[in-house]
Amino acid sequence: MPTDPTEDQAALRGWLRALPKAELHLHIEGTLEPEMMFELAARNGVRLPYADVRAVREAYQFTDLQSFLDLYYAGAGVLCTQQDFHDLAAAYLTRAHADGVVHAEIMFDPQTHTARGIPIQTVFAGLASALREARDTLGLTSVLLLSFLRHLSEEDALRTLEQALPLRETYADLWTGIGLDSGERGNPPEKFTRVYARCAQLGFRLTAHAGEEGPPEYVRGALDALGVERIDHGVRSDEDPALLAELIRRRIPLTVCPLSNLKLRVVDDLSRHNLARLLRAGAMVTLNSDDPAYFGGYILDNYMASATALDLDRDELATLAGNSLQASFLPLADKARLLDRLAQAVTQP
Ligand code: ADE
Ligand code: ZN
Repeated sequence: MPTDPTEDQAALRGWLRALPKAELHLHIEGTLEPEMMFELAARNGVRLPYADVRAVREAYQFTDLQSFLDLYYAGAGVLCTQQDFHDLAAAYLTRAHADGVVHAEIMFDPQTHTARGIPIQTVFAGLASALREARDTLGLTSVLLLSFLRHLSEEDALRTLEQALPLRETYADLWTGIGLDSGERGNPPEKFTRVYARCAQLGFRLTAHAGEEGPPEYVRGALDALGVERIDHGVRSDEDPALLAELIRRRIPLTVCPLSNLKLRVVDDLSRHNLARLLRAGAMVTLNSDDPAYFGGYILDNYMASATALDLDRDELATLAGNSLQASFLPLADKARLLDRLAQAVTQP
């Protein structure tokens, strides 16, 4: 008897949901759903250039990374108080938990907020309270990756680091790493060599966006000039076969975000995304949601859309989930425990 494709999809979604997964590429400001944007705008007396929630969603037609960033930074303008940052992170963590995320490594952009006069302490305190609550009530662990905006100067990044460092002890359980995001073109990794050297010396874990819109040379620069352990996106790496061979040999994780790549026109069709080819070539590919409120899907939607468009089988999907745990900054013992849980979960129908 032929099977019903809708039932197959529902079964696959249920199976994927039950796999313990880590989300490694997620901008907390990119989880601001239009409903919350309006709620916070009203709470804080901020005027929005949209009539209603529907108008916001209609405005999310992006032509490239910059066209998205313009709206994303404007949207973040409603985040003002500790409570706002708490509510934003709490909503994301609840949503991620429902998708089977057991560990999240969350990027945040302090410069977006300090430039508007919001104290960096407010940002840390609000996010941290939600992260600790999720750990205690949902069993979902998470860490914070302070991300520098690459369209700004390295001096600005160094100043931001100095503002944040007095808070390090207070948030030692959470703030474990740094990242580099925002407009990639024209802002090569080498621009941030000094701030990354300082962060490495301080013992932070290092990651950076590279090879999203920027060329493979930026992935090379992130590895060699910044010393990163992970590459955020990295999908253009296969334009340089020697680089790809090195990523595979060194098992450097790529935090790929398929629905983001589609929305920002890095790819024109998901069926032509190279993540399956990269995975089958032996690259350490992980799936993530990037800015789910803007790109129309959280992590489970990214797994489902990729599975469907690229014919990923269950072994490959389990490998992607396993890669996410392996590529996380969790201690080895935690990784081993979660990988055991994953091995159990994959055998469920
Ligand atoms: N900031 C938020 N999302 C981003 C992305 N996909 N690339 C670069 N910077 C970002
Ligand atoms: Zn990103």
